[in-house]
Amino acid sequence: ETRLFPDRPINVCVTGAAGQIAYSLLPLIAGGKVFGRHQPVSLRLLEIEAALPSLEGVVMELEDCAFPLLHSVFITSDAREAFRSCDVAVLLGAFPRKQGMERKDLLEKNAGIFKEQGEALNFEAAANVRVIVVGNPANTNAYVLKHFAPNVPEKNITALTRLDQNRAVSLVARKLGVPLSKVSDIYIWGNHSSTQYPDVLHGSVEGKGKLSDLLDKSYLEENFIPTIQKRGAAVIAARKMSSAMSAANAVCDHLHDWLLGSDSIVSMSVASDGSYGIERGTIFSFPLRCSRGGNYEIVKELQLDDFSQRYIKITAEELYAEKAEALALLS
Ligand code: NAD
Ligand code: LMR
Repeated sequence: ETRLFPDRPINVCVTGAAGQIAYSLLPLIAGGKVFGRHQPVSLRLLEIEAALPSLEGVVMELEDCAFPLLHSVFITSDAREAFRSCDVAVLLGAFPRKQGMERKDLLEKNAGIFKEQGEALNFEAAANVRVIVVGNPANTNAYVLKHFAPNVPEKNITALTRLDQNRAVSLVARKLGVPLSKVSDIYIWGNHSSTQYPDVLHGSVEGKGKLSDLLDKSYLEENFIPTIQKRGAAVIAARKMSSAMSAANAVCDHLHDWLLGSDSIVSMSVASDGSYGIERGTIFSFPLRCSRGGNYEIVKELQLDDFSQRYIKITAEELYAEKAEALALLS
């Protein structure tokens, strides 16, 4: 396996580094699960001033893990310092949703963070920096970031919907009693929110056939789709905190497949190029093909029936409204 950066460590900035998701994610990054088993990593960790003492404890633990690939760890509360020369920025730092809230209720609280961090990234990051936004509302925060980071190539700004994909694949496998590895081509369209459309209509189970024959539309409409749409809220209701282990695992999958490539079609939220009628620039989850080195293409040739189009329209309209609200808040 060749390294992404053959002659130096990859510089990875993680914001919200003393938070819950980071606690599960940092060992995956430093342990070689994300960028490959031979790629050394330099971590640049950003936190608010008040959380730096706690972050120091996380750094002690990273040291105590004795990861051979972990080249260095730098901590700061200054966004410009944190993003300096970073190749990958993982944006976790934001206020998480509590019980009874929708993710878009966080817009007012979190949009300002992504404006400031967009501006900092714009000046400081490596020219080809790859960005993943996780802090909610993830798609609209990524849109805000993109607006304030015109130097960052638009294609390089993404938001996490892989957690929704993983949830959907896992639920299908459990429903049909088949191994997870046999389930393929489940896609997430739209917003990482309760309007997202988890689409099984192109999917299949190896040896058993198409999911459109194995799952009927009333099950999809009444059970499967709402379960995936509301899974984040179900985890919050049970844990009294939002998902963290599964979110970190999904960030790992997203970055791994984006940078190292994947044979499967995967879902990420990326700027629309107008595909499927989605307004250009909207950060929308699409099925993508990723190839090694950080390139991806939106899968264009899928046929969408009326059922799918109805769901896709609802989630697109929610994103257009969030976009307008975010820009109004920041203007
Ligand atoms: P958390 O509260 O445990 O951690 C967030 C951390 O961010 C805190 O330590 C906080 O001090 C820090 N922070 C706040 N403002 C910051 C700033 N301006 N710069 C740097 N750091 C800052 O939350 P968490 O559970 O780790 O979740 C983080 C975010 O991810 C939340 O918004 C949550 O809703 C979201 N989330 C998204 C997904 C997804 O699939 N897209 C999944 C799970 C969680
Ligand atoms: C999730 O999907 O688990 C996260 O986005 C957290 C949340 O607020 O639901």
